[in-house]
Amino acid sequence: MRYAEITGWGKALPPTVLSNADLEQLVDTSDEWITSRSGIKERRISHVAASDMAELAARRAIAAAGVEMEQIDLVINATCTPESIIPASASYVQAKLGAVNAGAMDLNANCSGFVYSYVTADSLVRTGVVDTVVLVGVERLSWVLDYTDRATCILFGDGAGAVVLQPTDTEAGVFGSELGVDGNMADLLAVHGDGTVQPGSSLVPPRIVMQGSDVFRRAVTAMADASEAVVHEAGWDLDDIDLLIPHQANQRIIDATSRRLRLDPARVFLNIHAYGNTSAATIPIALTEAIEVRRVPPRANLVFAAFGGGLTWAAAAVRFGERVTPVGEVDDELPGTDESVWDLLAANFKSFGRLELE
Ligand code: COA
Repeated sequence: MRYAEITGWGKALPPTVLSNADLEQLVDTSDEWITSRSGIKERRISHVAASDMAELAARRAIAAAGVEMEQIDLVINATCTPESIIPASASYVQAKLGAVNAGAMDLNANCSGFVYSYVTADSLVRTGVVDTVVLVGVERLSWVLDYTDRATCILFGDGAGAVVLQPTDTEAGVFGSELGVDGNMADLLAVHGDGTVQPGSSLVPPRIVMQGSDVFRRAVTAMADASEAVVHEAGWDLDDIDLLIPHQANQRIIDATSRRLRLDPARVFLNIHAYGNTSAATIPIALTEAIEVRRVPPRANLVFAAFGGGLTWAAAAVRFGERVTPVGEVDDELPGTDESVWDLLAANFKSFGRLELE
């Protein structure tokens, strides 16, 4: 029997930090409010293109897997902040990697994009369509945030994470999955002013708008229901779960999902305080960090669960492989920057044409 195993993992976080204290200078908010309502303390703002973050995360995952660039059959770039509509950003990632034998595609399911992509990649490997997949989750959400809107700008950040999937004959990969959407509610979380919906729409600065409390209520129910469903589909008891690696949108949503699965904090991975919500990048970043701090034992039973724009949700019950140490590592880092966080946000502010930073 052919299965698909995660054999490599990696992340790339831009170095520039936007703290809650910084946000207090931009909008009417406080560290106490943001921390108690969301769990977020700081997030990263990128000075490089999303494909640069994606490339580094992918290079680290490829080194961890110990595969050659020529072996890669498919690059999937999960993102809702592509660099352009045409070409798909996956083309840039493929080119920067030099993955000369690969196909490449973007997959956009918003914050659920990594889980949607992972379930897709697992199926393609299991069925023999491809052998080696590099799956990146990457976002540059700072580019579509309105830093005058306290309800949204506090929540999101930039970053990338990646995994490599390869075939194996030992039991691994997706044992249960659920992919869901309620398209009728899509307007509850949207970026207006982008895409092809109306002529001239690109003249409007794209910005995220969100009905936060409504999205929150739906996320709590959908993530918990989907997680419970995939555990049952896998034939696991709740006690069999070694680690829940949830989408990092709001600590209170994660807490609700953990309660439903009756998981104590030792079996839930959290890094929301450090990066906020990086949409499709949250789970591969969290998985990489969980492996690095040895919270993923060999053959671990993992649950991935996510919710996001669309309104999408997704979960997967995943058996990890035997190897939890990287085959290789790369020393590369993102290029440094002399720009401050205010310099980086100034470009965003300028694009909105509303505010000047001092
Ligand atoms: N600082 C201070 N006050 C704020 C604020 C901020 N950054 N943002 C909103 N508020 C205010 C609101 O204006 C409101 O004030 P009012 O009562 O005077 O009208 C009050 O806080 C409560 O707002 P509400 O939106 O009901 O708060 P909440 O408890 O729902 O928390 C979120 C807000 C955004 C943290 C929460 O709704 C959330 O996380 N939603 C889901 C986000 C999400 O998961 N999105 C993406 C899915 S991938």
